[in-house]
Amino acid sequence: MKRIVLVTGASRGIGAAIAKLFLDNGDIVYINYNNSFEKAKEFLKYSNAHLIKADVSKEKEIVEMINTIKREYSKLDVIINNAGIAIDTTFDDKTVSNFNKIISTNLIGPFLICKYAKEIMDFGSIINVSSTNALDTYYPYSLDYDASKAGLISLTHNLAVEFAPNIRVNAVALGWVNTDMNKNLDEEYKKGEIEKILVKRFGEPSEIAKVVFFLASEDASYVNNAVIRVDGGFYG
Ligand SMILES: NC(=O)c1ccc[n+]([C@@H]2O[C@H](COP(=O)([O-])OP(=O)(O)OC[C@H]3O[C@@H](n4cnc5c(N)ncnc54)[C@H](OP(=O)(O)O)[C@@H]3O)[C@@H](O)[C@H]2O)c1
Repeated sequence: MKRIVLVTGASRGIGAAIAKLFLDNGDIVYINYNNSFEKAKEFLKYSNAHLIKADVSKEKEIVEMINTIKREYSKLDVIINNAGIAIDTTFDDKTVSNFNKIISTNLIGPFLICKYAKEIMDFGSIINVSSTNALDTYYPYSLDYDASKAGLISLTHNLAVEFAPNIRVNAVALGWVNTDMNKNLDEEYKKGEIEKILVKRFGEPSEIAKVVFFLASEDASYVNNAVIRVDGGFYG
């Protein structure tokens, strides 16, 4: 049966790869985007794709997005809370304004999406896209981002309780993935990071998408409240 799926931040990177996998499976997918309309438009070639603009850091826009899904299908089966931002700076340059922006997008956004979607979710699955930075790899340059992703793991556990028994809630904790988020990394630094990854390379968005797709599937029917590392075996 076709599932109704919402992928946030689906215009580019990991979110776009996730959306593509669900679309290719025949599911009906809401492609959420914020600034990258030109990129999101590429999904219009799929008859089962709906583009939906919403800034997930804004409650009003989330409410409108969920109301649209409610009006069009009266239900939602899968939510992938993927949209995220990082604003890397030195410790001294960290600001409350940037910290708030990151928390609003990466943590409060997923919370609000689940809060407003709850009434139209009877069965299904929620997957939150977190980071190994939330667990055990530390980068003071992204301490605000890391805190948001640690919060997202805590949120995952509480949502799993709140949405039980018919909706499973899991998180993926990602290591380095080749997307725009990492396009400005210093080459020497990148080489050093690759040395610490057992498979000796960054991941590809399509490799993340397959894990997320599995978690949303019936094959993962007994996977709940879990945090799955997808990092190529990062050590150090
Ligand atoms: N890449 C990595 O190495 C890595 C590692 C660990 C975790 N992650 C996580 O994986 C997720 C995807 O990252 P990525 O690497 O694919 O990033 P990306 O290439 O920078 O893409 C970010 C996506 O998020 C969307 N987005 C950002 N702010 C938004 C907002 N306020 N409202 C709606 N959408 C918003 C963007 O949409 P628009 O362009 O349309 O605004 C874009 O589609 C993020 O949560 C990130 O933290 C990534």
